[in-house]
Amino acid sequence: MYNSKITGLGYYVPDNIITNDDLSKMMDTNDEWIQERTGIKERRWIKKGSDDTTATMGAKAAKIAIERAGLTKDDIDFIVFATLSPDYYFPGGGVQIQDILEMPTIGALDIRNQCSGFVYGISVADQFIKTGMYKNILVIGSEYHSGGLDLSTRGRNVAVIFGDGAGAAVLSRTEDNSKGVLSTHLHSEGKYAEKLMVEGPSIRRWVPQLLEENNPEDISYYPYMDGQFVFKNAVVRFSEVIMEGLMTNNLKPTDIDMLIPHQANLRIAQFIQKKFGLSDDQVFNNIMKYGNTTAASVVIALTEAWEEGKIKDGDLVVLAAFGSGFTWASAVIRW
Ligand code: UT7
Repeated sequence: MYNSKITGLGYYVPDNIITNDDLSKMMDTNDEWIQERTGIKERRWIKKGSDDTTATMGAKAAKIAIERAGLTKDDIDFIVFATLSPDYYFPGGGVQIQDILEMPTIGALDIRNQCSGFVYGISVADQFIKTGMYKNILVIGSEYHSGGLDLSTRGRNVAVIFGDGAGAAVLSRTEDNSKGVLSTHLHSEGKYAEKLMVEGPSIRRWVPQLLEENNPEDISYYPYMDGQFVFKNAVVRFSEVIMEGLMTNNLKPTDIDMLIPHQANLRIAQFIQKKFGLSDDQVFNNIMKYGNTTAASVVIALTEAWEEGKIKDGDLVVLAAFGSGFTWASAVIRW
């Protein structure tokens, strides 16, 4: 019986920093509101004219993760790519990673689970490794939000939250069953799909229809979020899916050495921390610097926590995410 463990991690964020004060010049918002309601101080947005895209950022993060795993691109057997902001409507971004990194013609799977995408990706990769089909799998989360936000006051409840960036992990086969991914837990509730979504362009709001309507007030291609509703569901589902992971492994909240929650809102992470009685050292947050990078957020945070020496051999690491879909997920990992 094989197990999978994370052997390499990397992240890439654009160097263009957008502060809350910068945003207040674009729309009616202010630093105090944003920090108080979300915890965000600044985020990275791809500069207009830059060559960065969702795929190229993902490839940059992946390159670092592969090197840190002590592998080369030729050792990777499969790519799992999570994003809600792909370079193209189709094909997905996984094939671009294969091309940019000049990898052999290995399989590439795209995951569309928004904020839960990376944790779903870990679960998929874990199954492929546990069955013995693959040895080394690249799991990437990458988002280019800034090009698709409504930067007027109309879109402020969403625009101030999101940031651009990418992170990647290499999952590798191990025969030591005491280490690695212990379990993963995946959920969805599609009846709330329209609580956090982008409607068009899509089959429902297809381009010819949008062109025919030619309505400058049309906002169906900007992200829509019922913030309070999403918030209320997030705190419940985060708690449930973390507990589910712990109980599956006969563990309790105080056994957690490091909880990496999806960086949606600092208030959500603090609520979970308090509920489970965890100390500041047991929960990692970086939303202050990057905002919400959706599919990239968990893996960027995991990478930073590891780089800062906050995750050590033998630690119990829990990843948890909730977002559009709704989808939510957790992964329990013995480092
Ligand atoms: O990653 C996927 C999952 N996403 C989440 O989990 C996000 C969950 N939701 C949230 O984080 C919060 O709901 C937000 C941060 C999005 C909003 O915070 P809130 O405390 O729920 O604020 P609200 O939407 O209830 O708005 C409160 C007020 C409103 O004004 P009135 O009606 O009270 O006069 C808004 O118009 O704040 C106003 N407002 C703003 N003011 C300044 C909304 N956005 C802004 C803004 N700057 N950017």
